[in-house]
Amino acid sequence: MTREQVIEAARAAFLAHYGVAPTAVGVAPGRVELLGNHTDYNEGFVLTAAVDYVTAIAGAHSERPLTYLATSADFPEVTFDPSAMEKSTGEDRWANYIKGIIDELQKTGTPVGKFAGFVVSSVPDGSGLSSSAALLVATARLLTTLWPDPLADSPMELAKLARRAENGRFVGAPVGLLDQFSSACGLAGNALFLDCRSFAWRAVPLPSDKAGILIANTNVKHELAAGGGYSERHGQCLQAARQLLGRGDAKLRDVTPALLESKGIGLNPVLKQRAHHIVYENARVEKAAEALERGDLAEVGKLMKQSHESCRRYFENSCDEVDLLVEVASALPGVYGAKLTGGGWGGSAVILHDPTVIENLKAALTESYTTKFGKAPTLLTTTAAQGAEGIAL
Ligand code: GLA
Repeated sequence: MTREQVIEAARAAFLAHYGVAPTAVGVAPGRVELLGNHTDYNEGFVLTAAVDYVTAIAGAHSERPLTYLATSADFPEVTFDPSAMEKSTGEDRWANYIKGIIDELQKTGTPVGKFAGFVVSSVPDGSGLSSSAALLVATARLLTTLWPDPLADSPMELAKLARRAENGRFVGAPVGLLDQFSSACGLAGNALFLDCRSFAWRAVPLPSDKAGILIANTNVKHELAAGGGYSERHGQCLQAARQLLGRGDAKLRDVTPALLESKGIGLNPVLKQRAHHIVYENARVEKAAEALERGDLAEVGKLMKQSHESCRRYFENSCDEVDLLVEVASALPGVYGAKLTGGGWGGSAVILHDPTVIENLKAALTESYTTKFGKAPTLLTTTAAQGAEGIAL
């Protein structure tokens, strides 16, 4: 489905479900991390893009006593009082993302009250494309359209609010800003380079006629991916930074390769490996943004391959399934580079390629993956797409 089709489907589903027309729609894309794996919460750098897969939530102020949420996905309908919200723990957990946004908006003084909403999405769940950020940011866009708020003028402030919602009491995941930023600030035809400390960012052209983006989803979810591995890496990075820099609030962003080599000797070997990945990954992101600005896709691809190798060896957040996709893709003519994208231990590989080789690439990935794992990967093509918007109807 195109972005317009998802918006239209949400509008029509709202009307069919509630019997009245919605008055606004929030729409937000998923994202693909091109480079900068786990660098965001270390206050480092990322190179990212919004994708062609979006979540739309149609909504209207509610005449009825509560907030009502429904979705075309396989999740139950949810009702709650927005002035007395509790964390959902059952099948209705999907609503925690929406409650998190309501909570954060209320904290900034936006009087979000009762509404009805209907969610439709083309972002496949568990694909490594951050369906969660798409839902968070689409909701923020809907609610700041229903309750107009100056925040809506700043996509970056909306992204930060959505990250607080994901870190906060309803969702509670210690993620960085990568996903929400990409979804809120995406620009068609451009990758985005973000400094996760100063929040300064710039667009870097990534025209779709020069480079195609293929997302190869393993459809694998290892136990570690369910949050355990991510939180553990987050903790290890903070600990390594504290030990290397001798300050409680230290971040690996401030560790240079020279410092790591000299002071890393005393560090526990596992912490040293984690720090090694982040320190050199930050350097790769800066180089890749410059290479992309020069149009040097071969160099970007080389840095992507190095990034993947570093995830595999030092950060240990890849898995056999993603490794195979990266290995097969990297060996093909016309492929610039490939790597793990997202948190890890399953999910997807991102492959940057010459657009003319797409059919060969898809066939080779499907054949090798099916031979080894007995099922096909899901292959999704995308361009660097536009970010979120709120539409008053
Ligand atoms: C997940 C998180 C992001 C980021 C990536 C890894 O997508 O939500 O904040 O840490 O993993 O780069």
